[in-house]
Amino acid sequence: MKDASPQTIHLSDYQPYPFAVERVDLTFRLAPRATRVASRIAFAPNPARPGRHDLFLHGEKLRLLSARIDGAPIPAEVVTITDEGLTVTASALPDGPFLWEAEVEIDPEGNTALEGLYMSGGIYCTQCEAEGFRKITYYPDRPDVMAPFGVRIESDLPVLLSNGNKAAGGAGWVEWDDPWPKPAYLFALVAGNLVNLPDTFTTRSGRKVELNIWVRPGDLDRCAYAMDSLIRSMKWDEDAYGREYDLDVFNIVAVDDFNMGAMENKGLNIFNSKLVLASPETATDLDFERIEGVIAHEYFHNWTGNRITCRDWFQLCLKEGLTVFRDQQFTSDMRSGPVKRIEDVLTLRARQFREDMGPLAHPPRPDHFVEINNFYTATVYEKGAEVIGMLKRLVGDDGYARALDLYFDRHDGDAATIEDWLKVFEDATGRDLAQFMRWYTDAGTPRLSVAEDWAPGDQGGTFTLTFTQTTPPTPGQDEKPPRVIPVAVGLLNPNGDEVVPTTVLEMTEATQSFAFQGLASRPVASILRGFSAPVVLEHEVAATERAFLLAHDTDPFNRWEAGRALAKDVLVRMVTDGADPSADHVAALGRLLTDDTLDPAFRALCLRLPSEDDLAQTLADAGLTPDPDHIHKARETLARTVAERLVRPLALTYDAMADTGPFSPDAAAAGRRALRVAALAFLNRVDGGGRARALFDTATNMTESAAALACLIEAGRAEAALSAFHDRWQGNRLVIDKWFMLQAVHAAPADAAAVAERLAAHPGFDWKNPNRARALLGGLAANHAGFHAASGAAYRFYADWLLRLDALNPQIAARLSTAFETWARYDADRQALIRAELERIRQTPGLSRDLTEMAGRILGG
Ligand code: TRP
Ligand code: ZN
Repeated sequence: MKDASPQTIHLSDYQPYPFAVERVDLTFRLAPRATRVASRIAFAPNPARPGRHDLFLHGEKLRLLSARIDGAPIPAEVVTITDEGLTVTASALPDGPFLWEAEVEIDPEGNTALEGLYMSGGIYCTQCEAEGFRKITYYPDRPDVMAPFGVRIESDLPVLLSNGNKAAGGAGWVEWDDPWPKPAYLFALVAGNLVNLPDTFTTRSGRKVELNIWVRPGDLDRCAYAMDSLIRSMKWDEDAYGREYDLDVFNIVAVDDFNMGAMENKGLNIFNSKLVLASPETATDLDFERIEGVIAHEYFHNWTGNRITCRDWFQLCLKEGLTVFRDQQFTSDMRSGPVKRIEDVLTLRARQFREDMGPLAHPPRPDHFVEINNFYTATVYEKGAEVIGMLKRLVGDDGYARALDLYFDRHDGDAATIEDWLKVFEDATGRDLAQFMRWYTDAGTPRLSVAEDWAPGDQGGTFTLTFTQTTPPTPGQDEKPPRVIPVAVGLLNPNGDEVVPTTVLEMTEATQSFAFQGLASRPVASILRGFSAPVVLEHEVAATERAFLLAHDTDPFNRWEAGRALAKDVLVRMVTDGADPSADHVAALGRLLTDDTLDPAFRALCLRLPSEDDLAQTLADAGLTPDPDHIHKARETLARTVAERLVRPLALTYDAMADTGPFSPDAAAAGRRALRVAALAFLNRVDGGGRARALFDTATNMTESAAALACLIEAGRAEAALSAFHDRWQGNRLVIDKWFMLQAVHAAPADAAAVAERLAAHPGFDWKNPNRARALLGGLAANHAGFHAASGAAYRFYADWLLRLDALNPQIAARLSTAFETWARYDADRQALIRAELERIRQTPGLSRDLTEMAGRILGG
């Protein structure tokens, strides 16, 4: 498809574009197989690149119909066209400003990669980030080229949308004008038979903004939660960051076929429909929470991403890390801070730590790439957000607020860099952040080990914590100098009172000690409170001390963390020494379960056992070879033991948490349902699926319905329920995605590959729809013991589908290929099986640049 030996792009090669774009005007004449795009682009020399330069415009898969400069056709001998774009020789260009006019033809219906202009269920839509605009017309498709855009759309379809404000319209045409200069990746166009949920928002300076959520006619009754989330986001960004919206209209469109979650196009956000559409019967509480978070995320990009964008794609975490950090703060304010923090750390460890410990490890700001779409990663997003959290801890809330004000002030309208970002913190706070920069440039998760010392004395004792940091090598980076690590610590005395409240210790050396003096007795240390840095804490702690922290820690995150560490210690011993579950651990879980002073959502998180993938990572990190079957059995045994010993409190909790009154998606109600279904998952191991069956038949919300179905699948009693669920929800693509996903995730490990194969043959398996493909393949990969079944059947099935998907949609195939990133953890046989699949993929002729890069990097070379 693309060239055979793809080029590596290096940060160090950055050069400004030789021309400025002063204005762009586009006309689209829409037709499914032959859309015409006419462009008028006003170029001027860029003073940052003196001298005469060739004009290079990106362009891929375009049929060029005409091109003129200053009204004159361009002689063929001064133009070169390749797979990547078009070059006009410098000597053929006017000395000063000039006007480029061209017309191209493109094929939206044939666009299965879902990048550029494509069709989803009869709707024309676009996805231009990162480098999709070059599939729409010839253009300098790079984020540091910013221009105001005018767009005219000609079509008979009833709704025609683009960026900015509507300028004019008539029968069969509409014109949009976006006054804010923007890079091409923020361009968007939507056309279709859509209906809208309208609303309005008045900004604090009095601008009245028209809001719309556009969907297909049947989906209008599931937009209210997204609209409510949007309005709360707009208000929050004014209150928390002083940021107002800057156009007369803000449009959101939901489409069914979308490669990622959503996209922040200026004034016209485009969403995967799963992140817009929700009703109690069709969406789980997790879906509601994600919708709220992603609506906020895309809206927040209007300032952190759009008004201030990235100079080049190496700076991606400038907008993504900051916008994730902001959406996390928002969710934390809307819901529960501690619960949100625990959820975020769970995701960070499951996705980013996993990435950082394997062959795909890269820094939040990479310095080279082959395909930029492969760098929309957990490291860029989630670790990018963690790095900002550390910065905020180091400079304090006031310092952070001053730095952000300066950032918006100084860089509004810029295409900025990570250096610019850190400079505003230095200038606003007077702090030297040279060492902090390593968090952006160095890959790998630091290991932070802690030793404790207690010296009693007449004036009270001294408690000393000695920390040592080391970061294992990552691909291409062997040397890991020490980083600055903010370590939040609190000390408790033996009766549970806090004797030293949370203090941030700043570690800057490889090894460093911190002493606390004048203590009446040896304290218990609560270290890395709130998960103050994205590190692996190596702290040898007796089970009794973990249980003490689980019962008494005043920091909710560390309270949860103590329970999780306890569970991990137990599970690791069960796997490695064949130990039995710990009675003390189970008793501690029982006390939490029944502690009505605790938030049910928090209790649900405490009941959640560490995942099998997490245990495999933990074992590998300790130099052991994880056996997926043993891990699965140990976790099952522990779950069953908890269920047997706590059957009474679990049953009481299950009943007590039942919904009374009408459905609410709010955090309190969702927390009660979370605790209820967590109890159900345990009870299901001892009641033969009885409660799950009853709940499945009566549930009025998707959280309970899906949880009951998952339990029935695990109990091997799901046949009738699966067909009832399918019949009921046949018309709803998003719910049928769940039907596929649940069966793949909860299949017994020995059957997982066969179940997946059967599902792939189901007439409803529309593999061209990314959500459907992800439901089945992502579901199988999430079934740890099933995916890693010793036969290799799941590996083979999975690789076959990656190849099939790659020919259609390289982004999706490349993203799904990360299921194989952990191969080096496992035994020689499994390693050989996975490597053989990756080699087979890599050697397939015509493989995309995306999957070529991924297979090569995962294999390690
Ligand atoms: N900028 C989007 C976001 O984080 C991400 C995104 C949406 C994207 N669609 C994409 C990235 C396609 C790459 C390719 O909000
Ligand atoms: Zn984003």
